[in-house]
Amino acid sequence: MTQDELKQKAAHAALKYIKDVPVIGVGTGSTVKHFINYLADMKADFDGAVSSSEGTTALLKQAGIPVLDLNNVGTIEVYVDGADEINPNKQLIKGGGAALTREKIIAAASKTFVCIADGTKRVDVLGKFPLPIEVIPMARSYVAREMVKLGGQPVWRENCVTDNGNQIIDVHNLTILEPIKMEQAINNITGVVAVGIFAMRPADICMVSVGEEIITF
Ligand code: A5P
Repeated sequence: MTQDELKQKAAHAALKYIKDVPVIGVGTGSTVKHFINYLADMKADFDGAVSSSEGTTALLKQAGIPVLDLNNVGTIEVYVDGADEINPNKQLIKGGGAALTREKIIAAASKTFVCIADGTKRVDVLGKFPLPIEVIPMARSYVAREMVKLGGQPVWRENCVTDNGNQIIDVHNLTILEPIKMEQAINNITGVVAVGIFAMRPADICMVSVGEEIITF
């Protein structure tokens, strides 16, 4: 099976969590793209979706799925999204697609966060995937220097402007042994909008496809 077929399989597995759910939170990325394709066939069964990015909004609209404003929806029953890394505690690195801030908002506002991924995303310790941080543009160099103090090697993701008009720093060479502490420390740096560690609000259910199998934990 190709990596893309594995992503599709994981996306399909998540459908069982959206039965009788009026509003679905929808993440961003190539795994979620498959999920949206499945949602298109079921759109009569739910009211609409809250989107985590302009890219996802475009895909949802293309599929004829109403896109709802989180402010009008309140708590979301189920949020389905991918990840760049998943540890055994369901803590994640996200933001490879630069959508981390809105993803974090939807995760916070959701009762159940279902994370879907192919098996390559599973790790014992987070940090091999360069950690994305969304920053206010004028704070970029300052935040980068602070990240050096925390042991990382920051690289500016040039030519990337987030949906919120901000910039992204990808921090290499971090071994994140204490994800919650690291998330809190980075949140405390002035100029950081959001960090791609999802540890204080981890996933509730992870569905990872490995060969023919879906591993759920
Ligand atoms: C988007 O900003 C990310 O958090 C994605 O959820 C993550 O990069 C997973 O993407 P893929 O499904 O494309 O691997």
